[in-house]
Amino acid sequence: MPEPIVQRVAETVPPRIPRGMDLLDTPLLNKGTAFTEEERTLFGLLGLLPPHVETLDEQVVRAYEAYQRKDDDLERHIYLRALQDTNEILFYRLLLDHIEEMTPIVYTPTVALACQQFSHSYRRPRGLFVSYPRRDSINTLLRNRPNPNVDVIVVTDGERILGIGDQGAGGLGIPIGKLSLYTLIGGIRPERTLPIVLDVGTNNQERLNDPEYLGWRHERITGQDYYDFIDRFVQAVKQDAPETCLQWEDFANAHARPILERYRDELLTFNDDIQGTAAVALGAILGAIKVTQKTLRDQQIVIFGAGSAAIGVADGLHAAMKEEGLTEQEERSRFWLLNSKGLLHSGRNDLSPEQSVYAQPENRISGWPRTSNGRIGLADVLGKIDATILIGLSTVGGAFSETIVREMARKIDRPVILPLSNPTAKSEATGEDLIRWTDGRALVATGSPFAPVNYGGRQIPIAQCNNVYIFPAMGLGVVASGARRVTHSMMLAAARALSANSPALKDSSASLLPPLTDLRRVAAEIALAVATQAQKDGVAAKLGEDELRHRITATQWTPAYSSYCAEP
Ligand code: NAI
Repeated sequence: MPEPIVQRVAETVPPRIPRGMDLLDTPLLNKGTAFTEEERTLFGLLGLLPPHVETLDEQVVRAYEAYQRKDDDLERHIYLRALQDTNEILFYRLLLDHIEEMTPIVYTPTVALACQQFSHSYRRPRGLFVSYPRRDSINTLLRNRPNPNVDVIVVTDGERILGIGDQGAGGLGIPIGKLSLYTLIGGIRPERTLPIVLDVGTNNQERLNDPEYLGWRHERITGQDYYDFIDRFVQAVKQDAPETCLQWEDFANAHARPILERYRDELLTFNDDIQGTAAVALGAILGAIKVTQKTLRDQQIVIFGAGSAAIGVADGLHAAMKEEGLTEQEERSRFWLLNSKGLLHSGRNDLSPEQSVYAQPENRISGWPRTSNGRIGLADVLGKIDATILIGLSTVGGAFSETIVREMARKIDRPVILPLSNPTAKSEATGEDLIRWTDGRALVATGSPFAPVNYGGRQIPIAQCNNVYIFPAMGLGVVASGARRVTHSMMLAAARALSANSPALKDSSASLLPPLTDLRRVAAEIALAVATQAQKDGVAAKLGEDELRHRITATQWTPAYSSYCAEP
């Protein structure tokens, strides 16, 4: 007997329509000036709205004008959030029409400012505050959520918000912004998303000293108390929303991996900082390899930096190599990771277990040049091997110097170079330098945004590895397929589907990653790959490709008004 699949789409019942001001105060149902004469009469709105009835298109024009009148990005963010809390369909249509301009405003980088200013710009409730003093009643808090049916929760504890660290309860801005993108791109219905902050205190003195801080005014809970609290939360989600996808966001490095490892086989869950980041980078790399018409087997991969992001990307490449049939030994021989103490090799006794996997055997590097303190540096590695891929996740701005890049480019036709560190000042190289130093041959993707480069009469776009390429699509894939887990292979399938949609495959000087304007289509393709893999992994019921495509289309919500008047 096949297991019954979770029919999330069919559960969406038409809402009861309130009347008068209650209707205008319900952001998911409010149409503002777009209510028709008939609706105004039927729902007691006559006199409450100006007489002219607008279309959604006209409203978008007016809203965009108001948006443009704002003085800075934070004001623009606050304007959009207020619109979201007034009329969600207009909010999403506006975003959709201006997706490239507004994605950085609703989400990173502007959302970081919004988290810092959270207590000062707070207006209306959105999402859940699960604070430590209420640890005995988490189930009750969860049941108070606005809509019992939730497809995706994004949860943070606010400790490592983007590049600005601990923001305590203000971290809620991140799940709110991120879920807007789940809806905008993945098409997850807005009422079926739930942002949550686990307020376990803050060690940010500025917040603690701020009389207007709205969070729990207490230093962070740590150790076993912290993990017990996380466990209570997870058990409450399992009990009350067992089919919901739970995405962990912006937890401190020390907590992120243990939490993921503890719960990944227990419920439908993933960590975007760890898994999403790796999948996007992998998508860009696999796309670049296809452009060079080589395979993973042909690669020598140098990763500068061996911290959590670097290990995540290496693990993704490692898994992809395994799928291509390489043996463990063949895989390992292709990785060259360096941290602040130089190349990882088996003669070192300061490596973590995750790093040791990538240590080169000492005999392979005997006789290599070393600095006076015995370290093997980046220039030494690139001088000795024919590196095909160079990735930067070190936070060392400018580390990919002209000498280093030219040495790499001297030996191969199309070097693949990804300086992924953020923010821009920490990027290992700029897009423009990489293009010039390689005479326009490098295939580049960066962590920070860089303008297109004019070179040799061409405009070469620089792809930005942004997690938005993966997480909304992952959400769409698991919701549409009714998947019960997010497996490693599903992440890999997402990366492969992203690479298959690389514009550079059609034009080798085009971007390695698709433009944001194409992301809803690409998200549906990635979702199909994720859903298909979920079936192969036995975590979703088996369906044919046509049925899956149908479910993905039906799940991907589009912002448009529907009539509230009964059909004749
Ligand atoms: P981390 O602190 O865990 O790792 C940093 C690594 O760089 C460590 O291994 C450290 O030893 C190494 N390092 C530092 N100085 C070095 C030096 N002089 N030479 C060689 N290695 C050196 O940090 P994490 O979380 O891994 O992040 C690293 C960078 O990657 C950050 O800038 C972060 O913003 C960026 N990142 C970018 C993403 C993207 O998609 N663009 C996603 C995730 C992280």
